[in-house]
Amino acid sequence: MEKKRIATLSFNDGTPPVELPILSGTLGPDVIDIRNLAKTGMFTYDPGYLSTASCNSGITYIDGEAGHLYYRGYPIEQLAEKASFLEVCHLLLYGDLPTQEKKDEFERKIKYRTMVHDQLMTFYKGFRRDAHPMAVMVGVVGALSAFYHDSLDINNPAHREISALRLIAKVPTIAAMCYRYNTGHPFMYPNNEFGYVENFLHMMFATPCEPYLANPKLVRALERIFILHADHEQNASTSTVRLAGSSGANPFACVAAGIAALWGPAHGGANEAVLKMLDEIGDISQIPKYVARAKDRSDPFRLMGFGHRVYKNMDPRAKVMRETCYEVLAELGLQNDKMFEMAMELERIALQDEYFIERKLYPNVDFYSGIVLRALKVPLNMFTVIFAIARTIGWISQWNEMISDSERRIGRPRQLYLGQQRRDYVPIAER
Ligand code: CMC
Repeated sequence: MEKKRIATLSFNDGTPPVELPILSGTLGPDVIDIRNLAKTGMFTYDPGYLSTASCNSGITYIDGEAGHLYYRGYPIEQLAEKASFLEVCHLLLYGDLPTQEKKDEFERKIKYRTMVHDQLMTFYKGFRRDAHPMAVMVGVVGALSAFYHDSLDINNPAHREISALRLIAKVPTIAAMCYRYNTGHPFMYPNNEFGYVENFLHMMFATPCEPYLANPKLVRALERIFILHADHEQNASTSTVRLAGSSGANPFACVAAGIAALWGPAHGGANEAVLKMLDEIGDISQIPKYVARAKDRSDPFRLMGFGHRVYKNMDPRAKVMRETCYEVLAELGLQNDKMFEMAMELERIALQDEYFIERKLYPNVDFYSGIVLRALKVPLNMFTVIFAIARTIGWISQWNEMISDSERRIGRPRQLYLGQQRRDYVPIAER
């Protein structure tokens, strides 16, 4: 039998050493189990969780050095090429790819849940027409818990499954309604004759007077965006969903919290930020100036769509998205599009520049997904919403895994306190 590895933490002040077991996963680096440390009264300090695994999980694996991403063991490239988004949802939620029979059953379960409660529509009227769709998403997805409270017992696996199916089915409907409310067009009901992705495009772009005739190549491109964004282990929004869920909060509230975390430009807001940046750059001739700004530490400007906390090699999702980008632009005859040309030039310069090479800052998936979404005529403020539709399955699968874990405890990080020492209240006249 293999000997158990142990790390020993010693101190130079007489505090007795602490033995910390080393745990191995099925893939990836070992982790030091620091739970014994609590006995010393000390904590670890790791802002931004650069060295901390917050949970165990069997859903998604990333090797950032090698540039690998697996969903339940399957490489992302294979899923992006061969699977449908709903197959990927089944895989993430239940752990395996479905048989044909299971796939049909799963699709049926999703299809018959795509409509939202009629009263939910009145919610939209409370928002300004020009509200950012992500602001509306946070509110409306959170409000689902007020409509579907017949299955909110988080300790009941059947309830958890129904909530998961409802979220996967209804989030695209809610997202399309955000867009329609923004533009002043009537809401379009889902049409269950369409597949998941085509149905979303129908709800976005059809009108009661005219159908939306979807181009199958563009439908497949959006499906790829959904597959590539479906899960990404313990990123900021997923960790938010887990932390909210650790208190026992209902899944709709937890996913609304995830949507809020996703909105930030360092996370899901990056695809929108890439296009805004390209718009600001304006012309290829201006690129060197912006690259210089990105390299200047006194300037907060960063090249949006470059760099990743985990990938220190090309993001495997970016490789697939780059190909999809070329395919979509060729299909639409947009190869000479000005924004695309600027993006390609920026990519070329950044890949050759010492600053980016040294720091391993490669273009990430959002660098290319923004260009594809723009070509699909998805408005800029809906880019992060598309990410949220895709990531809903990841959030709910991770939430479900956490609730089923017998080791689950409320998430409660500690801190290194750097504030005032104890002091006494001073009456206002004496301050
Ligand atoms: N442009 C210029 N410099 C950068 C960039 C960038 N995009 N990203 C990182 N750096 C520099 C940073 O200034 C630092 O330099 P130095 O060592 O001289 O101080 C070094 O690279 C390391 O950066 P960091 O901020 O410590 O890295 P991080 O792991 O905390 O941040 C990141 C990762 C994704 C937040 C960051 O790279 C970034 O802000 N990128 C732009 C936003 C973006 O594209 N986000 C989408 C990520 S992919 C979608 C998703 O999964 O959500």
